[in-house]
Amino acid sequence: MKKKTIHILSIESSCDDTGAAVLENNRVLSNIIAGQKIHAAYGGVVPELASRAHQQNIVPVVDQALKEAGIDKKQLKAIAFTQGPGLMGSLLVGTSFAKSLSFALEIPLIPVNHMQAHVLAHFIDEASQNQPPFPFLCMTISGGHTQILKVSAYNDFEILGETIDDAVGEAFDKTAKLLGLPYPGGPLIDKYAKEGNPKAFAFSEPKTPNPLDFSFSGFKTAILYFLQKEQKKDADFIKKNLNDICASVQHSIVTILMNRMKKAVQMSGINHVAIAGGVSANSEIRSTLKSMENEMGWTTYIPKFEYTTDNAAMIGIVAYFKYLNSEFGKEDTTATSRLDINS
Ligand code: KG4
Ligand code: ZN
Repeated sequence: MKKKTIHILSIESSCDDTGAAVLENNRVLSNIIAGQKIHAAYGGVVPELASRAHQQNIVPVVDQALKEAGIDKKQLKAIAFTQGPGLMGSLLVGTSFAKSLSFALEIPLIPVNHMQAHVLAHFIDEASQNQPPFPFLCMTISGGHTQILKVSAYNDFEILGETIDDAVGEAFDKTAKLLGLPYPGGPLIDKYAKEGNPKAFAFSEPKTPNPLDFSFSGFKTAILYFLQKEQKKDADFIKKNLNDICASVQHSIVTILMNRMKKAVQMSGINHVAIAGGVSANSEIRSTLKSMENEMGWTTYIPKFEYTTDNAAMIGIVAYFKYLNSEFGKEDTTATSRLDINS
C-alpha cells in the first residue's frame, strides 16, 4: 500500500528562537529559525523581549518555511506548535498563532512537548542520522534540562536520572558569563576549548545521592572561587588563560556526563545511547560519545547539528507521529510553562 503524503507546518517558540518547519511525513522540507540577538547584551534571555521578538518574527518565519518547502497552506494537513515547557510569554505567541491558523484553515491542531521533540528529532529521516531502536537511552542536555531517559516508545519516557539544581547548559552559559563572554556562552566555550589544554585545570565531579542524577550548582561556584583566587594573583588571568579554562571546564563537564551515561548503561543493560538538546551540539560531547562505540561497545546516535538546538523540525516529527495516532489538540488547548516528559 502506498504511504499517504502528509504535510504538517510546525512552530517552535518556547524560548528565544522563533522556528517554523514544513515536514512531508518524516522528512524535512524546510526548517527556518530566527534567533534573537537582543539577549546577548543582557547576559541571558529577557522573557518580555523574547515574547516581543517572537511577535515580530513569526509571520515572516512561517511565510519563509512555506515558500522554501514549496507548499501552499491549503495543502497542509495539520498545524503543530510547542505547548511547553518554556517561557509563558514566548509559548503564547506560537500557541495563539497556531490555533488561529488551524481554525482558519479548518485543519487539526497538534500540541507538542518540547522535550519529547528534542529526543524524537532522531527519527527525522536524514541520510546522516540513524534511528535508534526501542528501548534506547537518551541524555537530553539543554539550557533548561539535564536528564537521562529510557525511551521505550515514541510516547513512553522514563526518567532514570536528572539534575537536582542547574541544567548543564546553564553550567556552560554561567561559566561563560564569569569569563566575560556573551550569551549564549556554550558555543563560545566550545570554540575556545579547541585551542586549549583540557588538563590545564581540574574541577571535581559533584556527588549526588542517586548515581544517575546531576548537580551543577556547586560546580559553577567552584569555578567562580577558582577564578577569583587566580585573579587575585594575576588580574589578567582570564585573558591569558581563556583557551585553557574553556578546555578544562568543558572537559570536566563532558567527563561528568559520560560517567553518568556509563552507569546508566550498566544499570539498565541498554547500550543504544543517544544525546539530544542544545548542548548535544558540543563538539567534545559528540566526539567522546562516538568514541564509546569502540571503547564500550555502545551503538551511539548523534543528532544532525541543526536538530540539536531549538528548531521547529523536531516539533514537526512528533506532530507526524501524533497525526498518525489521531492525537489532536482541542479548542481549549493552551500553553503550559511546566510540562513533564510524558505529558
Ligand atoms: O535546546 P536549546 O537550544 O534550548 C533549550 O531548550 O534550553 O539549548 C540551549 C543551550 C544553551 O545553554 C547553549 O549555551 C547550549 O545549549 N549550547 C552549547 C553549544 N551549543 C549550544 N553548549 C555547549 N557547546 C555548544 N556547542
Ligand atoms: Zn530546547
